[in-house]
Amino acid sequence: STLGASAAERGGRYFGAAIAAGRMGDSTYMNILNREFNQVTAENEMKWDATEPSRNSFSFGNGDRIANHAISRGMKIRGHALLWHQQMPTWARGMEGSDLRSAMINHVTRVATYYRGKIHSWDVVNEAFADGGSGGRRDSNLQRTGNDWIEAAFRAADAADPNAKLCYNDYNTDGINAKSTGIYNMVRDFKSRGVPIDCVGFQSHLGTSLSSDYQANLQRFADLGVDVEITELDVAQGSNQANIFAGVTRACLNVARCNGITVWGIRDSDSWRTGENPLLFDSSGNKKAAYNSVLSALNNG
Ligand code: G3I
Repeated sequence: STLGASAAERGGRYFGAAIAAGRMGDSTYMNILNREFNQVTAENEMKWDATEPSRNSFSFGNGDRIANHAISRGMKIRGHALLWHQQMPTWARGMEGSDLRSAMINHVTRVATYYRGKIHSWDVVNEAFADGGSGGRRDSNLQRTGNDWIEAAFRAADAADPNAKLCYNDYNTDGINAKSTGIYNMVRDFKSRGVPIDCVGFQSHLGTSLSSDYQANLQRFADLGVDVEITELDVAQGSNQANIFAGVTRACLNVARCNGITVWGIRDSDSWRTGENPLLFDSSGNKKAAYNSVLSALNNG
């Protein structure tokens, strides 16, 4: 009868939402969260700029508001995100080389240690691959510290919280394409060399169609020996919206190692995609057709 309960009945999967600490006083929002979802992701509150606003000085108040609520309700928590070239604190944006490398590893260590034991899966590195046909890394000051920065981050996170699943997370990976194949090759290399990666997050910020190989793409990663998670799902409004949400849900159910689905917000009015109405609840908190199609896919599909 709810997204979370129905997902749990399908092999113990979760169905979650990104939430914002600043909205936690909104009773409509909190009632939907508590009724429907059994997993949360902090939309912004666990990012680098939020958690380490000045160097080596940490701030967990808003992240804790979200984490404490989740724990009190038995919801899983996805940690998002230890390292990302966006939403870096001002002090780190101009850094480079070995100074930046040590600052970023310290960040990973301190934040993952602080939340040790509370996080189901961490996005250790977010959006490090380039869009387009290259299949390579995106340029950033993180990348310029050396191509091994991603594995160094995973090793530091593993040392800090050995029981959290450690994920690489990205977008435009919604089918078999150059970008998803570049990530696939990195994961295969990590697995072959014993770099501690446990999962890959597919953000799934989707438009008006779903790639026919969406499920096959999840499956090829699962076949490498990692879990897969749908981490930031939202879908352009339009006649196909409910079908695409259901298609993503069925794809996850059809892949044994797909642990769960997170939508990137609760109501349309909570979405970063302003004016696009890409979520499961309308701005008044009513269930949309997309909600019904997801629930029915969880129960039947
Ligand atoms: O909190 C400040 C507020 O004090 C200030 O007055 C206001 C003025 O702009 O900004 C507020 O911060 C904003 C923050 O969201 C909280 O609302 C930032 O400007 C804004 O950039 C930030 O946007 C977030 C975005 O990541 C940052 O790149 C979105 O909420 C968040 O949904 C979005 O999430 C990302 C994932 O982390 C990674 N994948 C893509 C996804 C969508 O972009």
